Amino acid sequence: MTLAPSLSLNDGRSIPQLGLGVYKVADSATDALVAGAIDAGYRHIDTATLYRNERGVGAGVRASGVPREELFVTTKVWNTEQGRDATLHAFDTSLRQLGFDYVDLYLIHWPVPAQGLFVETWRTLEELKADGRARSIGVSNFEPHHLDTLQRETDTVPAVNQVELHPWLQQRAVREYDEAHGIVTESWSPLARGRIAGEPVLDRIAAKHGTTPGQVTIRWHLQLGAVVIPKSSSLDRVRGNFDVFGFELDAEDLEAIESLESGYRTGPHPDTM
Ligand SMILES: NC(=O)c1ccc[n+]([C@@H]2O[C@H](COP(=O)([O-])OP(=O)(O)OC[C@H]3O[C@@H](n4cnc5c(N)ncnc54)[C@H](OP(=O)(O)O)[C@@H]3O)[C@@H](O)[C@H]2O)c1
Repeated sequence: MTLAPSLSLNDGRSIPQLGLGVYKVADSATDALVAGAIDAGYRHIDTATLYRNERGVGAGVRASGVPREELFVTTKVWNTEQGRDATLHAFDTSLRQLGFDYVDLYLIHWPVPAQGLFVETWRTLEELKADGRARSIGVSNFEPHHLDTLQRETDTVPAVNQVELHPWLQQRAVREYDEAHGIVTESWSPLARGRIAGEPVLDRIAAKHGTTPGQVTIRWHLQLGAVVIPKSSSLDRVRGNFDVFGFELDAEDLEAIESLESGYRTGPHPDTM
């Protein structure tokens, strides 16, 4: 069976470069989707408290029959649960929902600078890493200036920064900052929530390689060096989205995708969320 390659993290651990995102998958459907994805070769699942399907993720992992230590599961602390006490409580609740005794990666979901709590929350994640219940810790939706604040005020560089990233929002400044500081960039909404369908540039590249626009886009993320976590509720699409290791985009393809940058966001801006 083909497995995705892994990227090294700055804490000595590693992360499978292609995972399954489960935002907006109903909890009741998550068990079968996750077990099916693992059967297709996925070893990395991305959930969050917000998604209300951590129970289903844990059940799907157990149903897959693949040993827990061969899988990489991420969850996230939601905005209303920032601050030390609330984050510790949220983390315990997540572990209980998942039915796990550790997560592979715990992320601060958004910085929410207006709350002024992300530094305290980050120090709490440092505690969770020190006690081994969060094997790696990272952030999501952090702009370089939020990361600068963490660097000034805390001792640990995040292992991962998960940000909105797709052909219309290529996040050059964030990627450059992450790379310079040893942070792995992870792409959320990597398919721009389905906007890839009907884009002539992607259609043309897909036809050239005998693939689909979805596969071309996922391949583009891999070749950027990002971790990518496409979501689909359909097991057929989940399988198709993993079938990206048999072709390579060339310089001309990469240049054509680069020209799609427009600043378009599917989600809010991290400074104002
Ligand atoms: N950290 C954050 O703030 C944050 C925010 C958003 C998302 N995320 C994470 O990132 C993951 C992915 O992002 P996302 O769910 O927002 O969007 P996405 O993966 O960019 O797109 C998912 C949408 O694309 C469709 N789709 C899936 N495969 C396709 C293909 N091959 N061709 C055409 N359409 C396809 C899906 O439809 P069907 O389901 O009908 O197949 C769904 O509507 C989430 O599930 C979550 O884990 C994180």
